Amino acid sequence: MAYHVLLFADPGIDDSFAIMYALMNPDIDLVGIVSGYGNTPREKSVKNTAYLLSLAGRAEIPIISGAAGPLSGEPVQYYPEIHGPEGLGPIKPPDTLQNVKVHDFTKILEIVNEYAGRLIIVNIGRLTELALVFIVFGDNALKDVTAFYIMGGAFLVPGNISAEAEANFFSDPIAAKIVMEKAYNVFLYPLNITNKAIITSEVINYLGENSPTPFRPLLKPAFDYYFKAYQKNIPGLQGAPLHDVVPLMAITNPELFKYIPKRVRVEEFGNSKGKSIADFRPKPAEEPPETLDFIGMEADFQKFVSNFMEIFLQGNFEKK
Ligand code: BDR
Ligand code: CA
Repeated sequence: MAYHVLLFADPGIDDSFAIMYALMNPDIDLVGIVSGYGNTPREKSVKNTAYLLSLAGRAEIPIISGAAGPLSGEPVQYYPEIHGPEGLGPIKPPDTLQNVKVHDFTKILEIVNEYAGRLIIVNIGRLTELALVFIVFGDNALKDVTAFYIMGGAFLVPGNISAEAEANFFSDPIAAKIVMEKAYNVFLYPLNITNKAIITSEVINYLGENSPTPFRPLLKPAFDYYFKAYQKNIPGLQGAPLHDVVPLMAITNPELFKYIPKRVRVEEFGNSKGKSIADFRPKPAEEPPETLDFIGMEADFQKFVSNFMEIFLQGNFEKK
């Protein structure tokens, strides 16, 4: 039985790799993709999602239009230098996708109810949409979601967008705080591990030649663009971290990850905005068990690479 997954994403290059990975993983059943602003504006994020689904022959998977900006109402900063002008590196999805059918926000609740008790929510973009679900539909709206797998945060290590904050938390810290407070059974994948989820050019070159999938022509150009940006920011890096693949892999390969249960808090304002905080003292302050989140702090990165290759080499697109 495959895991039913509702994905919140902002593709974005590593998001796109995560979407491709999810589509091809035989144990993941993608039941919807909420596409919002983040790495690129919402419209581009939707278009990229539609492009990937159409390449996979899975255009029936509902795309839900996410938020256009953060809860603070502040203007959005995009990252074309990392993700490309359209969000896919040098690739421009065909204009014919302009009129693709997109669902509105209420579809989220419809999906959550349809899969009540057997749905995992994965969030690999800003936390705005998930926070809005709590705000609009109430604190109990997601009580039937089995677990939340979230890429975000950085604990006792540098951020990637400010000295202390990771991009998904930084770009909407108000939303990140709401989600970390209101969602139960949260598995969090911070930079502590996603920075080490490195895929090298050798791996991508190999897949670019051997992946028996319609995604094959995209892999190398999209990755090379992203890798170049990372090399500029972190000289000496041997590959690029595909942050967003991590939570999806964690669903189907739990033995690869180790977690520390702690209550996660998020700074909303000021110089530390978006900073994630947990009490790592040997004798931490006691917190009620229901407030604890599972922070992924260790992973088997060799197996990360081998599982990534396996999925991209087998190219399974069957509906699960
Ligand atoms: C996260 O920020 C985004 O730019 C990436 O897609 C990833 O979700 C990494 O900090
Ligand atoms: Ca992302």
